[in-house]
Amino acid sequence: MKAELIDGKRIAGEVRAEVAAGVVEMKQRFGIVPRLAVVLVGDDPASSIYVRSKKKVATEAGMVASDDTLPADVTQDELLRQVRLLGDDDSVSGVLVQLPVPDHIDVDAVIEALNPDKDVDGLHPTNVGLLVQGRARFVPATPAGIQQMLLRTGNDPSGKHVVVCGRSEIVGKPISLLLMQKAAGANATVTICHSRTADLGSITRQADILVAAMGQPGIITADMVKDGAVVIDVGTNRIDAPERKCGYRLVGDVDFEAVSEKASAITPVPGGVGPMTIAMLLQNTLLAAQQAAAKG
Ligand SMILES: NC(=O)c1ccc[n+]([C@@H]2O[C@H](COP(=O)([O-])OP(=O)(O)OC[C@H]3O[C@@H](n4cnc5c(N)ncnc54)[C@H](OP(=O)(O)O)[C@@H]3O)[C@@H](O)[C@H]2O)c1
Repeated sequence: MKAELIDGKRIAGEVRAEVAAGVVEMKQRFGIVPRLAVVLVGDDPASSIYVRSKKKVATEAGMVASDDTLPADVTQDELLRQVRLLGDDDSVSGVLVQLPVPDHIDVDAVIEALNPDKDVDGLHPTNVGLLVQGRARFVPATPAGIQQMLLRTGNDPSGKHVVVCGRSEIVGKPISLLLMQKAAGANATVTICHSRTADLGSITRQADILVAAMGQPGIITADMVKDGAVVIDVGTNRIDAPERKCGYRLVGDVDFEAVSEKASAITPVPGGVGPMTIAMLLQNTLLAAQQAAAKG
């Protein structure tokens, strides 16, 4: 069977258009233009690209986007001060700190310094707790994007066995929590795997929906996938490609060619989960602005 391609780019376009319509409505009803503030520490090329792209799509959706770029040797105190300043600034709807931060910075302290009402990445302990309790305010963008991709392609996870490979704070844990909730668009039976899982394939083969978020190129091979499974590949790995001008290409955690012969639907890399992540970040920013406006 040749799998249906889950086109993240197309679905992200739908979400971005919905957000843009929401931004127009906010301007008309409240005279407010949502503003996303991104904090970048240092000049890591990949992080700089992500920040530029987040600002670009936010602007295209009619929002204001700003970035504060701090030097790589910024002190922890100075970074925390900046994050708190943005948290207190009434003109800012959403704040995110581009991760990873340099080693001398305590990332947990940075996350705790975020104003939970503006934490559009959904990483603050208050927002994680709300997600655990099934009353999420900001669902982290990648898991929120995965859920939307499933729902908008007719792959409701309700009653399905979802196997998540990876237990990170930004993908593995929150997607597991999101899809196990007693709620519309969820109600899945979820199994979480990680690097200490014995015989990974014996578990992934049970998945109706398989989410691969390990950062290991091509680790999910066809023999690890059940016939007809829906496969969501979060992995974004750079591998050498000397024939290309940039010298690399992006591949997922799934052996795409072989697995697409077995799965019923599959996300490509690039063009799958990645575009959805940015679209859902915009949706969270709009939500933060709407919640602030409702509070008055
Ligand atoms: N497209 C997007 O928008 C997007 C967003 C976020 C991340 N990503 C990509 O997704 C991938 C994962 O990122 P992340 O930040 O979630 O990951 P991470 O923090 O690096 O965690 C990787 C997880 O995978 C597990 N793992 C690693 N090797 C494994 C193996 N051989 N078998 C089973 N489990 C294994 C690890 O287990 P332990 O916990 O035991 O170490 C860990 O839980 C990366 O390629 C990243 O670039 C993409």
